[in-house]
Amino acid sequence: MRIVLVGPPGAGKGTQAVRLAEKLAVPHISTGDLFRANISQQTELGKLAKSYMDAGNLVPDEVTIAMAKDRMEQPDAANGFLLDGFPRNVSQAEALDELLRTEGITLDAVLDLEVPEDEVVKRIAGRRICRKDSSHVFHVTYNAPKQEGVCDVCGGELYQRDDDREETVRTRLEVYHTQTEPIIDYYKAQGLVVTISSLGPVAEITERALEALKREKAENK
Ligand code: AP5
Repeated sequence: MRIVLVGPPGAGKGTQAVRLAEKLAVPHISTGDLFRANISQQTELGKLAKSYMDAGNLVPDEVTIAMAKDRMEQPDAANGFLLDGFPRNVSQAEALDELLRTEGITLDAVLDLEVPEDEVVKRIAGRRICRKDSSHVFHVTYNAPKQEGVCDVCGGELYQRDDDREETVRTRLEVYHTQTEPIIDYYKAQGLVVTISSLGPVAEITERALEALKREKAENK
């Protein structure tokens, strides 16, 4: 399957993407994680991305699209992928459509995770991520690691993302509403959007998502 995950910062995209990718046997491609890996390796791309990310703004389309395209062209993504955080504005969505067209493939669904803003703020405030692999995500209350400050998966140190500071989160939410939300209408026009609530226990949301994707697939047959 080829799926795009969309939702505000803190909606649980990364949390669900890891679980859904495993169930659907496709790679989880997160542009945020790719940028964070570049930042920790201190690449030129990482240095460029950091200045935009720390301010809560989008990294320029040109570098983001090239990076996403390169990742989608890796052999493990030949039979499907779960995109998390890409596309993030209409021009990225158009670039993705163009890329899929040249490959002769299409998206199966755009999974839209809905969550109220006050919940988003609580989730982001308590989020801790692993320094070794930023797809290992915890929450100090909702999903606490067994040992404080240590990743359950790989033993890496847990830290708070630089862009999870309150003033940056406000900018990220604004950027989401003005630049990312319009892609939902863009994909609604293609009949691809499946909206689910991202409230409740993590495992229940995964089940909800899988059910919704199954229904969407059956309806589009
Ligand atoms: P990115 O890393 O994509 O961040 P985001 O979209 O803002 O999303 P988040 O990672 O904040 O949240 P999430 O929805 O994944 O939630 P999570 O699962 O962690 O992007 C960061 C930056 O990179 C951007 O601001 C931009 O600068 C740049 N960038 C990335 N892609 C780009 C692009 N395409 N173009 C341009 N720039 C780009 O969950 C949040 C917390 O809640 C966690 O602590 C988790 O444990 C907890 N939680 C999850 N589910 C539940 C639940 N059901 N109940 C209780 N707690 C829960």
